[in-house]
Amino acid sequence: MPSAHVPVLAGEAIDLLDPRPGEVVVDCTFGGGGHARLLADRVGAEGLVIAVDRDPAARERFATFASQSPAPARFLRASFVEALAQLRAEGLRADLVLMDLGMSSMQVDTRERGFSYAFDAPLDMRMDPDQALTARDVVNGWDERRLARLLREFGEERYAARMARAIVRARARTEIETTNELVEVIAAAVPAPARFAAGHPARRAFQAIRIAVNDELAQLDAVLPLAWSLLREGGRFAGISFHSLEDRRVKRFLVERSRGCICPPDLPVCACGREPEAELVTRRSVAPTPGRSLPIRVLAPRGCAWPASSRRRRERHDPPPPARLGGRRAGAAASAPAPRVPPRLVHTARRLPDAPFVDRLMHGRLWVALIAAALIGIVFVQVSCSSSTPGSAGRSTASRR
Ligand SMILES: C[S@@+](CC[C@H](N)C(=O)[O-])C[C@H]1O[C@@H](n2cnc3c(N)ncnc32)[C@H](O)[C@@H]1O
Repeated sequence: MPSAHVPVLAGEAIDLLDPRPGEVVVDCTFGGGGHARLLADRVGAEGLVIAVDRDPAARERFATFASQSPAPARFLRASFVEALAQLRAEGLRADLVLMDLGMSSMQVDTRERGFSYAFDAPLDMRMDPDQALTARDVVNGWDERRLARLLREFGEERYAARMARAIVRARARTEIETTNELVEVIAAAVPAPARFAAGHPARRAFQAIRIAVNDELAQLDAVLPLAWSLLREGGRFAGISFHSLEDRRVKRFLVERSRGCICPPDLPVCACGREPEAELVTRRSVAPTPGRSLPIRVLAPRGCAWPASSRRRRERHDPPPPARLGGRRAGAAASAPAPRVPPRLVHTARRLPDAPFVDRLMHGRLWVALIAAALIGIVFVQVSCSSSTPGSAGRSTASRR
């Protein structure tokens, strides 16, 4: 029996979404129902929980959930793209939409489904067992270039080309049927030092193949605008992503919705008149432990009552409110013209959080390397300055005397 699912970041996601009694909630990734349970408790008998999952095993768990839920509940077994399209066609408007992306722990723990490199099982990895494409088809059917691109792009795998070559050679002898066979081929393709370096050598390759089998990134790209269109005014959306490929997509979509003026930076006044559609509730992602990449991104369409501290001010359209000093309106100090910052600099600074470099920096360990390099640099400069200071050699000689 698979173990009961404890969702990661459940508390954080629910607090940020702030479900209220009577609200309509769509949980696009029901899984084990951990989030749905918390949402149902908060929306109560006047609310409604709509649960979506393409895995039939989730439907079985939903039956138990529905029998205990304080809120009325409905299940749609479908991809979230199909389900949300159906809900929109029905004219449903939601207060909350939640998406907890990736596979569930129950899917990983159900060995025979082949999601895990830790258990021997047939190469499957389908979230929806009714779909045709399996991991076996990908591993044995895709040509070497396509496999290498898959491992590189979806697995961000450094040894993608070597692994793809090894897979093609191995399957020329006999088809690769099981997870263990695939792990052996992949591990042998990785140089020995890297095999024991960071994590399991097959982790990234398994992630890449799973993403391809379940068409996860295309699903995500298609579902975000649908989720957006379902929200009523004052509604909230949260996306919990498991890896940077998902997070980048969610972040790009949400930042785009919350962006105001898009005029060229050197225009002195706004000519486009574009208004942000929503406000980002968290500017940064929320992660459970430092270094783990499971960010929650939450967005609230404009017009909803979020705490002022979590709102972003709309530069250009909304000037900041007058400053208050010591509880009294600050006259001259507040109204004195601020020093003029070049518009191009402001524009660049505003876009910095969306730059792929910054994204990588936040999700990878590059920042550790940068800090180490900076420290080494400081020590180096200190040492070279002290050795080149005139008289320093003389002084040390003198003190030795
Ligand atoms: C990380 S789990 C969600 C766990 C859930 N939040 C909980 O509290 O138990 C992701 C779930 O979403 C489902 N899923 C992933 N992609 C999907 C898609 N495109 N359409 C429908 N369901 C999907 C998976 O089958 C899996 O059950």
